[in-house]
Amino acid sequence: MSTKDFDNLIAATQTTLTRIANDFAPAVFASSLAAEDMVLTDMILCARLSIGIFTLETGRLHKETLGMLDRIRDTYDAEVKLFKPEQAAVDAYVQQHGLNAFYDSVELRKECCRIRKVEPLNRALAGNKAWVTGQRRAQSTTRADLAVQENDEAHGMTKFNPLADWSEDDVWNYIRSNKVPYNPLHDKGYPSIGCEPCTRAVQPGEDIRAGRWWWENPESKECGLHVVDGKLVRVKSVAQ
Ligand code: ADX
Ligand code: SF4
Repeated sequence: MSTKDFDNLIAATQTTLTRIANDFAPAVFASSLAAEDMVLTDMILCARLSIGIFTLETGRLHKETLGMLDRIRDTYDAEVKLFKPEQAAVDAYVQQHGLNAFYDSVELRKECCRIRKVEPLNRALAGNKAWVTGQRRAQSTTRADLAVQENDEAHGMTKFNPLADWSEDDVWNYIRSNKVPYNPLHDKGYPSIGCEPCTRAVQPGEDIRAGRWWWENPESKECGLHVVDGKLVRVKSVAQ
C-alpha cells in the first residue's frame, strides 16, 4: 500500500471513531490488549475521543497481556476498565469439569468462554448505544464478510469494526510509525493472543489464528463475543 493510501486508511478510521464518539454516545471499545486493539486505543486516546475502553479479564490471560494495562497507563495516562467473570460460576465450572476442561470438547470450551468472556461482555455493554472491536476481515474465515458497521441484534446496539479493511501489515505499520506500545508476545510468535491456555505461538507461514484453540476446526474458533444475525460466525469459505 502506498503512503498516500495508508494515510487515507488512517483518516477514514479516525473519521469512523469520531462519528462513533459523537453520534453513538455512550460507546465503549472492547480491547483484548493485542496489536489491533492497541491501534484503536492509540487513536481513541490521542484524539481524546469519548469512548470508554474495557478489557474482559478472564482470569486466564498471560502476564504479558496484563502488563499492557500498565503500559497504557504510563503512555496515555488512561485507565482500562476491567470486567471479570462471576467467581461462583467459575468455581462451579472448575469443580464440575476441571480447570482446563476446555480441551475436552467444543461444548466445554464454549461454556468456559461463556462464563469468562460472554457474560462479562454483556455487563460491559449494558447501557451503551454502540461498541467497538478490533476485528479485521483478513483475520479468519469466520470474519470474511465483516463490515465496519453492523447491527448487533444480540446486544441491541450498533457494533463497529473500524479496522475491518486493515491488513496485518497496516496494523504493524501504524504501531511502528506511531511508537504504539504492544504486547511483547507478538515478538515471540504470537500474532493473535487470547487466554494463555488457549493460545500458542505459530510457525512462520502458518495462519495467524492457527495458535488460537489449535485443537479445534477453523469453523468453531470463535469465543461467542461476536454474534451477528443470530449466528456466531460469518463463514464465507472454509479453508482447511
Ligand atoms: S476472539 O473472539 O477470537 O477472542 P480476537 O482475539 O480475535 O477475538 O479479538 C477480536 C476482538 O474481540 C478484539 O479486537 C476485541 O475487540 C474483542 N476481544 C477479544 N478478547 C477480548 C477481551 N479479553 N477483552 C475485551 N475485548 C476482547
Ligand atoms: Fe476459557 Fe480458553 Fe475461552 Fe479463555 S479462551 S475463556 S480459558 S476456553
